[in-house]
Amino acid sequence: MLANVVASQAVHKAYGGVVPELASRAHQQNIVPVVHRALCEAKVSKKDIDAVAFTQGPGLIGALLVGTSFAKSMSMALDIPLIAVNHVKAHILAHFIADASAVVPTFPFLALTVSGGHTQIVLVRDYFDMEVLGKTLDDAAGEAFDKIAKILGLPYPGGPYIDSRAERGNPKAFVFSKPKVEGLNFSFSGLKTSILYFLQQAVKSDPNFIEQRIDDLAASAQQAIIEILVEKIELAVNRFGIKRIALAGGVSANRGLRSALRERAERSAWRVYIPKLEYTTDNAAMIARVGVLKLQKRLVSTLYTSAVARFDI
Ligand code: KG4
Ligand code: ZN
Repeated sequence: MLANVVASQAVHKAYGGVVPELASRAHQQNIVPVVHRALCEAKVSKKDIDAVAFTQGPGLIGALLVGTSFAKSMSMALDIPLIAVNHVKAHILAHFIADASAVVPTFPFLALTVSGGHTQIVLVRDYFDMEVLGKTLDDAAGEAFDKIAKILGLPYPGGPYIDSRAERGNPKAFVFSKPKVEGLNFSFSGLKTSILYFLQQAVKSDPNFIEQRIDDLAASAQQAIIEILVEKIELAVNRFGIKRIALAGGVSANRGLRSALRERAERSAWRVYIPKLEYTTDNAAMIARVGVLKLQKRLVSTLYTSAVARFDI
């Protein structure tokens, strides 16, 4: 991996969430400088590029359109193949980046994909043979982190803030009820609501409650999310008899989740694959990795390809 430049979109902090129109404008402003910087860092000139891979979706259509149009232009101007990449698949295939982790997963394995937009358990038979076994019925795990953080008055995106607050808190201080969802599907919106109602009551009798107990609240909320995720992975392992589990997506940066999975794995001789931090949250490296895999198989796109806001694996 020669370069992996990420433009942080600080613009969203001011609004406590992603404003789609601002996101696409930020993409438009950032894309040329980011590509330029990546080429400089990699010490590669444009004529050395063999192909251009881009995120086709799923995601916010405005932001996807910027990347899609840019990649098409680059492909046309340099006369190189254009490769459309599925964002969710790329999170999983990030495990195959050469320096992503000490060991790469062997097929078949189960992927727990947890990010701001998706929460899925995926059966990965091969690079391009994946089946979604379960997914969230409402909020994604990252969305739950972000919404709970907002209730606690923490900045956006809240996942990393909850993570560091939780390090100092007691995960058993409060017990929040977990949803009862059949099979391998998930639900997170009830947890957020139960925390909201609990805090509304608590603040009535003590206006400083959140401030004083924020570390314990963060730790307990995080614990509930981790338990929901680990329970479902356990169920998937038992159902499919596959004990190799790869964690993927932004929420896999969470220290509590990483260690809970490692501990759980030790107990039952599972093998867990946890990517390096820079390959957990959205990054260009994972898109490039899929690009290489698709180029080898000549799975290239035409200039008629368009961005797609929603699609499954
Ligand atoms: O994969 P990602 O970068 O973007 C999407 O595809 O959605 O995931 C972003 C999500 C956000 O919800 C963010 O709060 C969450 O990942 N996240 C975390 C942590 N770092 C990022 N959640 C919990 N703990 C973290 N350390
Ligand atoms: Zn993502």
